[in-house]
Amino acid sequence: MTRRLAAAVAAMGVVAWLAGCSAGGGQQSAQFVGSEKCAGCHKDEYKSWQGTWHAKMVRPANQFMLKDASDNWAKDAKGNAGPTKANISGAVVKKEDVVMVVGARWKQRYLVKNLANGGHQFLDKPWNTVHKQWEPYGQANTWEGQCATCHVTGYKVVEVDEANRAVKKWDYAEKNVGCESCHGPGSKHVASEDARDIFNPKNASLAESSKVCGYCHIRVENTNFKTPEGKPSEQLPHPVLGQSYRAGLDDWTQWYPDKVLLVGIQPEDPVSKNYPGTDLNNAFWLDEQFTKTGIADARKHHQQYQEHVQSKHHGDKGASCASCHMPHAVAGKKMVAAKDSCASCHKNEKFDLGQLMPGVAQTAQNLFVQAHTFNPKQARKGGPVVPAGAPEPVYVGGK
Ligand code: HEC
Ligand code: HEC
Ligand code: HEC
Ligand code: HEC
Ligand code: HEC
Ligand code: HEC
Repeated sequence: MTRRLAAAVAAMGVVAWLAGCSAGGGQQSAQFVGSEKCAGCHKDEYKSWQGTWHAKMVRPANQFMLKDASDNWAKDAKGNAGPTKANISGAVVKKEDVVMVVGARWKQRYLVKNLANGGHQFLDKPWNTVHKQWEPYGQANTWEGQCATCHVTGYKVVEVDEANRAVKKWDYAEKNVGCESCHGPGSKHVASEDARDIFNPKNASLAESSKVCGYCHIRVENTNFKTPEGKPSEQLPHPVLGQSYRAGLDDWTQWYPDKVLLVGIQPEDPVSKNYPGTDLNNAFWLDEQFTKTGIADARKHHQQYQEHVQSKHHGDKGASCASCHMPHAVAGKKMVAAKDSCASCHKNEKFDLGQLMPGVAQTAQNLFVQAHTFNPKQARKGGPVVPAGAPEPVYVGGK
């Protein structure tokens, strides 16, 4: 059996199984339409989503470049020089050449056009928002070919260079992590207003609900596709060419399992070893604490799902990502901050979140995201994280 056929057969099995528990048949043929289309009928959800980082991922530079970064473009207060060239082409660039910015909470990265492949490439330095400094970033990463799948909605690979298995063309429905990232494509539902035509993670099992978040809050390596520059792809598996991952309909853990390193997800890719030569090398802390407890905290950022599946919260008697993080308000109910969610289930326990969730997964120089293993024997001391209650960033275009 060819790999693609094997994947298709696996996907069919998953669809048949999902049909019993989540979105109905109507969504199967639906297309992605974009979050704007949902706004009219779901005002509370839309408005509160706009306030989350999911909605602020990829934005125009002329408005959303961080003011700090813009003011210190040539050199930061510590004397580090700012960005001067594009990572792939090596072209000399000016601030005015930046078209889009990526991120604003932990760090901000800067995108300029890449004329060679019709896409975008990064500048050689990102801005660290907490330490207010420029940092080196050497990787020649294409935005569309390598990163976008987790930072936009409805990403798909449209054309590959078959001889080299390199991504040539791509497309997506919307910048940012839009409604349909977690609810699947919405065209049918927009027309029918029928709940059966849209996936609601609330109607799925806790494990299935978390898996929706897991598509992006994970670190994988896809040896099936290369980047346009011929490097191994960091991005997630893509199903059939020209098709996007659809939350609630597709089980991404089944795509090309033999060609994708899914550490902590596929049994053949255990967390207990390293994967030299890949982005997954040293992705987990395999130190003394791991030897004692068997629980591996992440060393790199966007691995929350791989930590979560090791925790007692994973599974149908525990908690899903959404049990702690409501991704937006839902009709008539306000969003609950994750740190305030514990008491709803742990009635008599008090937790020291700083101790239980240390900043151990690195996202920028000396800046970390918090562990999600909920290891009761957590003994690691973490490094700096974005402080709770940190003020909203200030952009060149204002707040
Ligand atoms: C024209 C109005 C309309 C638009 C546009 C619309 N919805 Fe809905 N949506 C509804 C209605 C009405 C319901 C409640 C249906 C019911 O309870 O039977 C609903 C329910 C839902 C549910 C809950 C389903 C469930 O099983 O509980 C989700 C999730 C949802 N919509 C998401 C979306 C998304 C995402 C979009 C944009 C792609 C969208 N909606 C666009 C009218 C709309
Ligand atoms: C990051 C993932 C994510 C994004 C993005 C997202 N949602 Fe949701 N949505 C969820 C989850 C999870 C639930 C179930 C929450 C719960 O358990 O009550 C939900 C529930 C809903 C519901 C059902 C509310 C109810 O009362 O059951 C609607 C309607 C909805 N979302 C609409 C939207 C719209 C519109 C957008 C975009 C503006 C959006 N969602 C963006 C994850 C997401
Ligand atoms: C399509 C990819 C994608 C999916 C699906 C996704 N996320 Fe995210 N998430 C991101 C990205 C990218 C960021 C960083 C956003 C930024 O910094 O602007 C993020 C940031 C976050 C943050 C930190 C920022 C904040 O607003 O607090 C939380 C918490 C989070 N996601 C939870 C979830 C949960 C819960 C789900 C599932 C219900 C989910 N995500 C699904 C990509 C995704
Ligand atoms: C597998 C999904 C995935 C891929 C691939 C991915 N990211 Fe992310 N990225 C995330 C998630 C999820 C977050 C937020 C959570 C975290 O950092 O732990 C994030 C955070 C970020 C942030 C910080 C955002 C902020 O507000 O500070 C930047 C910048 C970023 N990613 C850029 C990139 C670049 C550049 C690439 C390609 C080289 C890339 N990402 C590839 C999922 C991904
Ligand atoms: C939706 C319910 C729910 C929420 C919300 C929740 N938990 Fe849990 N938690 C559980 C369940 C169920 C278990 C598993 C209990 C067991 O197996 O003994 C668990 C287990 C744990 C454990 C492991 C205990 C052990 O002995 O192994 C820790 C630590 C923990 N939770 C901390 C937290 C913290 C901190 C929060 C808030 C940030 C939180 N939980 C939110 C339901 C929840
Ligand atoms: C038991 C509760 C709980 C569960 C389950 C949980 N989280 Fe969190 N998460 C938290 C808390 C508490 C924080 C600390 C900051 C906050 O309040 O948002 C946090 C922070 C984050 C952050 C920001 C990291 C940082 O350092 O600021 C991301 C991203 C995130 N969670 C994603 C996820 C994803 C994805 C899942 C599921 C795979 C998940 N979380 C499951 C409680 C939880």
